[in-house]
Amino acid sequence: MTADRKGPGSGRKNLLTRRNALIGGATATAGAAAAVGIDTVRRGGLPGGGGNPQVEDASSTAPLAEARVGFHGERQAGVVTPAPAYGNFIAVDLREDVGRADLRRMLKVLSADAADLAEGLPPIADQEPELTEIPANLTVTVGFGERVFDVVDPSAKPGWLKPLPAFEQIDRLREEYSDGDLLLQICSDDRMTLAHAQRLLLKGLRGFGTVRWVQEGFRNASGSLKEGTTMRNLFGQVDGTINPTTEDSSMDDVVYGLMDGLEPWAPGGTSLVIRRIHMNLDTWDEADAPGREDAVGRKLSNGAPLTGEREEDPADLSATTPLGFHVIADYAHIRRATATTPQERILRRPYNYDLPVSAAGGLAGKGADSGGVSESGLIFASYQADPVKQFLPIQRRLAELDMLNMWTVPIGSCVFAIPPGCSPGGFVGDFLFEG
Ligand code: HEM
Repeated sequence: MTADRKGPGSGRKNLLTRRNALIGGATATAGAAAAVGIDTVRRGGLPGGGGNPQVEDASSTAPLAEARVGFHGERQAGVVTPAPAYGNFIAVDLREDVGRADLRRMLKVLSADAADLAEGLPPIADQEPELTEIPANLTVTVGFGERVFDVVDPSAKPGWLKPLPAFEQIDRLREEYSDGDLLLQICSDDRMTLAHAQRLLLKGLRGFGTVRWVQEGFRNASGSLKEGTTMRNLFGQVDGTINPTTEDSSMDDVVYGLMDGLEPWAPGGTSLVIRRIHMNLDTWDEADAPGREDAVGRKLSNGAPLTGEREEDPADLSATTPLGFHVIADYAHIRRATATTPQERILRRPYNYDLPVSAAGGLAGKGADSGGVSESGLIFASYQADPVKQFLPIQRRLAELDMLNMWTVPIGSCVFAIPPGCSPGGFVGDFLFEG
């Protein structure tokens, strides 16, 4: 597992190794600069300066100062690890002439930099090392689109790695939120840390490709909810109740394919489907509370199913009203999304989005995918061993019938293979280069 939290300084060896590599391969001046940097940046200061007093003070009292999620392990961090408050998803289009050796070099540097950042250490190219010192549960998760396999090892490409079929009833997809060759998912409980990590990692990638899109998401601030509380989305709904968990085998089964009828594309690997779904808050405003609860099949107050009292109560899909109608309606989101086989389950780890609207005003009409005073929705991130067997059947049912479709419009869609994690000596995807 990758969720281990490590004390400060445990990544020092890694930084030293990288420094040696730099000194070995670069000019004496660069090497000397790095050599000066090593001790000062660990203390939080720039060469010639002292430590960073803000961080030294913070480490004794600030709740997030020591919060780290290790980068290395059999599985990448950022999937089953708790979702930090902020999550950015960035798709990169690789340059036409990128070759196998280029990708190897790129992934090596990307992995080393991500590992440093997760430890609170500044990567070599970091010009603002102070901004790395509080990772605040920073995770960097790398995903591969088809192109990576085409260049590196076409025989390893999972059969499901292609765009989802079109859902004509509901989709209004935009290029600016769809597809991509390489994905970076960067999450942190500190927006400053995330912004800096994103810039640093993208600087490392710019010789290899261009940013295709960035989707910025958020959840509640770290510490504002009791641990284990299910998040809410911008409709005000408790969102994420029925999900696999690390407390039993369901996370392994669903996400890593360790169950009959599923197979991981690589041990410790999984897949990520991202659907950007616009939520029309203006027309949602027109629905009253019973109508809103009816649409999902759960209560707004605490997320309990309409047939129960508490969030954790199982939904009774067979319960009927005195008039003979299902209590959880035939068109209710949870009835339509409920798994019909043990395999047909997914890990939902969504982030909300809410874009600034310039010249905001008026009302967004029914079925609109923009407009009104908000531009909001869900970055619906779903992890599963096999999107065709697990995600698709659910999405097909929801496209055919789901009351929530009255207020939601998918505007982006993409599928990525999430490779296994790597060891400190390796890099994400290294096993693909072994042949
Ligand atoms: C903006 C779009 C969406 C919203 C607002 C939304 C909201 C919700 C809410 C409030 C619940 C009930 C609580 C829970 O178990 O989390 C739920 C359940 C669920 N949703 Fe969604 N959802 C959206 C899109 C999707 C999509 C695209 C899928 C998959 C294709 C999906 C799959 C599920 C599943 C599997 C459940 C659990 C069903 C169960 O077994 O009870 N949802 N969703």
